[in-house]
Amino acid sequence: FAFTPANQQWAAGQISKYPEGRQASAIIPLLWRAQEQDGWLTRPAIEHIADMLGMAYIRALEVATFYFMFQLQPVGKIANIQICGTTSCMICGAEDLIAVCKELIAPKAHTLSADGNFSWEEVECLGACTNAPMAQIGKDYYEDLTPDTLRDLIARFAKGEVPVPGPQNGRYASEPL
Ligand code: FES
Repeated sequence: FAFTPANQQWAAGQISKYPEGRQASAIIPLLWRAQEQDGWLTRPAIEHIADMLGMAYIRALEVATFYFMFQLQPVGKIANIQICGTTSCMICGAEDLIAVCKELIAPKAHTLSADGNFSWEEVECLGACTNAPMAQIGKDYYEDLTPDTLRDLIARFAKGEVPVPGPQNGRYASEPL
C-alpha cells in the first residue's frame, strides 16, 4: 500500500497537527483517506498507517474494526448498501430490505455481487429513526424504504443514476430546508 503523492502530503499535514508523541491521534483521518483512495482498508494499508503513526498494527486495527464506517472487505464498485438493523428500522421492515439485498446482491453480507458492482451489510442505528426503515448508500441516506423502493434504487444505481436521497415516500419529518 502507498498513498498517492497528494494523499501522502495531506497525511503529513494531518500528522503535523499533533504534538510530538501524539501522532496516533491522526489515525481516523488517515484510515478514512486510505479508504477513500482504494475503496476499502487492506491489511497493508492499516500496517502502513500504523507505521506512519508509530503505532502497533493491532492498535490501528482496533480503531478500524470499531467503526462500521471502515470497510475491511472489498465493497461494490457502484455502491455498498448499509441497511440499518436497529430497533426502529427492524420494527418497520429492515428484515424485508435485507431480504432484497440477499436476493439482488449476494446471499451474505460483505460479499460482492456477481458483477462486483454492489455489496451490502447490516449496520447499527444511523440516527434517522424517524424515517425508518432506512439505508445509507454511499454518503447519502435513503429513508422510508420499502422492498419495492429499495429494488428501484438498486436498479437506478446500476444504470448509473444517483437517485435523490431522503425519504422515498415523499414524507419529511420536518420541512425540507
Ligand atoms: Fe434505524 Fe435509528 S434505528 S436509523
